[in-house]
Amino acid sequence: MYEATRFVALPPVANRNAKESSMCGIIGYSGPRKTTAILLEGLRRLEYRGYDSAGIALGSGKSLRIVKTVGKIAALKAAIPADLEGNWGIGHTRWATHGGVTQINAHPHMDGSGKLAVVHNGIIENHHALRAMLEKKGCVFVSETDTEVIPHLIAQYYKGDLLEAVKEALPKLQGTYGIACIHADEPGRIVGARNGSPLVVGVGSGEMFLASDITAMVAYTDKVIYLNDGEIVDLGVDHYSISNREERKVDKKIDQITWELGSIEKGDYPCYMEKEIFEQPESIERALSGRLDAENATAKLGGLNLDRRQLSAVGRVKVIAAGTSWHAGLIGCQLLEGLARLPSQAELASEIRYRNAVVEKDSLWFTVSQSGETADSLYAMREIQRKGATVLGICNVVGSTIARESDGGIYVHSGPEIAVASTKAFTSQLAAFYLFSLLMARMRHMAREDGAAFLAQLQNVPSLVAAALKQRDLIQAVAKKYCHAKDFLFLGRGMLYPIALEGALKLKEISYIHAEGCSAGEMKHGPIALISGEVPSVFLISDDYLREKTLSNIREIKARGGPIIAVGVEGDEEARRVADDFIPVPHSDPRFYPFTMVVPLQLLAYFCALELGRDVDQPRNLAKSVTVE
Ligand code: AGP
Repeated sequence: MYEATRFVALPPVANRNAKESSMCGIIGYSGPRKTTAILLEGLRRLEYRGYDSAGIALGSGKSLRIVKTVGKIAALKAAIPADLEGNWGIGHTRWATHGGVTQINAHPHMDGSGKLAVVHNGIIENHHALRAMLEKKGCVFVSETDTEVIPHLIAQYYKGDLLEAVKEALPKLQGTYGIACIHADEPGRIVGARNGSPLVVGVGSGEMFLASDITAMVAYTDKVIYLNDGEIVDLGVDHYSISNREERKVDKKIDQITWELGSIEKGDYPCYMEKEIFEQPESIERALSGRLDAENATAKLGGLNLDRRQLSAVGRVKVIAAGTSWHAGLIGCQLLEGLARLPSQAELASEIRYRNAVVEKDSLWFTVSQSGETADSLYAMREIQRKGATVLGICNVVGSTIARESDGGIYVHSGPEIAVASTKAFTSQLAAFYLFSLLMARMRHMAREDGAAFLAQLQNVPSLVAAALKQRDLIQAVAKKYCHAKDFLFLGRGMLYPIALEGALKLKEISYIHAEGCSAGEMKHGPIALISGEVPSVFLISDDYLREKTLSNIREIKARGGPIIAVGVEGDEEARRVADDFIPVPHSDPRFYPFTMVVPLQLLAYFCALELGRDVDQPRNLAKSVTVE
């Protein structure tokens, strides 16, 4: 259970100017178990982040053995000799940034002596200058990567103490890094450092772990320490110590992970994405749990770190997010405006981070991010904080950078989301916005009875979503019928417009079919030119004041020969008649259709991708947590 985990006030962050990190994965292990198996298992757990090559360095006696391959972890496993074992080691999944996808460019990288190995997430911006300097000193580089300067640089300072050498080398590095280093002459020792790229220490009993992501080690320990930028960890089989840039020892809190191992397993499902879609009734329930105040007909959100006076002074809300999280933000803003009468606006993080945005004194900002590590969102948030605004987080990953650096917030408690395409995190982010909107509305204009009615309906969302999931087989048949189309349009109005955007994003991400999300009302202003018998249009039809208008938009498309898939309300016979295929969702208060209408779109994308033989959980070119620009 996550419920006890609250957003806490910011610990000081050493380097808020760090630029980017990368989406690669790191695992390190020191202990009595079979190191090869632990490293491979850790890398397998990190696969979801997206990668194109992988490797491990194993220490045994006083030597290191390196194995690296292009492609999946299975290829790495096959390349490792059966008798290769070690007492400690590091592993890495690489998502190429500097240099092509080749075995030589894969990590770990070594110094010239072959005794020092480093894995690195991030980008070393001054690698050209460092390489030139190191080459002058006689270092020979074998890869095209920025990372290779790190082992050569550390080796320059190595005099028998890896920690000291790393400490001396770090100030010379410009850019971002999460690194793990080992040296053949220091059995069991791993030195890690963080600057802009996540690193977590796993504390076991008689064994220690270091990883970029807790999923890599959750099978072995539930005790973790999140490193902050500027911190260095020195660990051995049964000890660790953490220091900061000022060389002072830092006493850090050990956090308890509350995940069950089962939550990162597929169970009986063929893919994580299907599992995560079907988990939504429970994940939404978790997002709501303990946050509904029936007595006062409002919501309780203790993690906001804002008292009633501060909340009443809020005059407008701004949201920063990317991709699916931005779609949740768009809906959240419509709800806040309608329910709490607060001017609200959702901004794309990649846009706002480079704009000189106006930060009004009465504005309250949210950064919405499943991973809590998305670079665009994080850097946009820091810029807005620099301008003096309070920025809250709506995050799923507990202890993530956005969660820690925001001034408070709401954990959505979806549980680990492993599939690259976000599904359950989205509906939980919606739940967070619905709670916050209720809270703000009740502090402003909303009557107690209206609050109570809204709260009752919010409580019913998990059952509505469970009912929407029952259309699985129908949606699979619809996907079979249309999955060979080259283009799709997704159309909705009002709160269903962002759902149309989300449906299009899901389909293109995992099936690679071109899809566009449009406001149904905007069709006639351009996109209608795309309509033909080969372009299916997926319409979202509510049963509110926008229904008639949406039905007219459907007829405009029908008249031009476009096939129609309608997601509408159970019992809407007119919508069923006008559509070629009709997918019903249960009737509810129209404000709650975003929860139910997104479900058929998630399933449609999923079944199209499955039908086309795509890698659903790890679609091409995508990474789960986009920590590069
Ligand atoms: C969702 O399916 C995508 N993989 C992507 O758009 C994602 O939502 C976006 O990168 C933002 O990620 P975040 O929520 O972790 O910040």
